[in-house]
Amino acid sequence: VTAADPWTSILVPEAEQPEGPPAVWEVFHENSKTTRYATVMPNDVVAARMERMHPSLVHRGVPAVDLPPAAPVLAGAAQARRSARELDPVPIPVGDLATLLDAAYGVTAANADNGYPRPFRAVPSGGALYPLELYVAVQAAAGIDPGLHHLEPGARRLEHLDPGLTAEALAGAFVQPEVILGSAVVVLLGALFERSTFKYGERGYRFVLIEAGHVAQNLTLAATELGYASVCLGGYFDHEVDALVGLDGVTSSIVYAIAIGGRAS
Ligand SMILES: Cc1cc2nc3c(=O)[nH]c(=O)nc-3n(C[C@H](O)[C@H](O)[C@H](O)COP(=O)(O)O)c2cc1C
Repeated sequence: VTAADPWTSILVPEAEQPEGPPAVWEVFHENSKTTRYATVMPNDVVAARMERMHPSLVHRGVPAVDLPPAAPVLAGAAQARRSARELDPVPIPVGDLATLLDAAYGVTAANADNGYPRPFRAVPSGGALYPLELYVAVQAAAGIDPGLHHLEPGARRLEHLDPGLTAEALAGAFVQPEVILGSAVVVLLGALFERSTFKYGERGYRFVLIEAGHVAQNLTLAATELGYASVCLGGYFDHEVDALVGLDGVTSSIVYAIAIGGRAS
């Protein structure tokens, strides 16, 4: 895999590709992209709907037990985590960034027990296939140059793919540019769908999205524990973000983004 031609070496050879129309997941992925032409439901309409929702399902007439107080597991991070929309682009020390990325998708152990030798990672993965690739858009990190980086988890290395990807350029592809401009780093979760769908078919697409959630949760909990502000972002213009990262949007596409920065006082 070279920087100039990152995908061709992992693409399924044409002769081995299934014939016929695209898989449903491919059509769904395309149809669920955010574009600048989509209409957005007004906030007051959304709020009115939310007010009519029950906080949760309640089953009456069945036995129930009141739970005791919770212990502060995960260093209290699950209780303390909150999505921040005002972040401060204070430089993240490279050590903290390494800790965050290891918690998110780091290699944790060799894997020889399921006949598919991809090493285990910090999150569960259907078939231990690990379909995600982490891109890090750095705006302010002490010891790391700004621009677009890609995580090589096994080597614990950040590859500098595009020094020219500025925070301004990335911000312009998000619905809330101010959040990106306030962040020190933005972790973009890229999915290489084929790694899951070759085995699980349409269901593999589900697994990819589920696994992106695992990674994002690890990242936000670790960020909380280290004292950073963070927010998970689904509000971005897919075609634009994929183009900035250099992904084709079909074989591989950004499925989630996590902005991390200092806590705005
Ligand atoms: C899939 C997903 C997408 C989200 N996208 C955005 C987003 O684009 N912008 C934003 O400000 N918050 C986004 N959020 C954060 C939610 O608004 C937030 O989680 C929710 O308000 C609950 O608040 P909390 O995270 O502080 O508990 C997203 C959350 C999820 C799970």
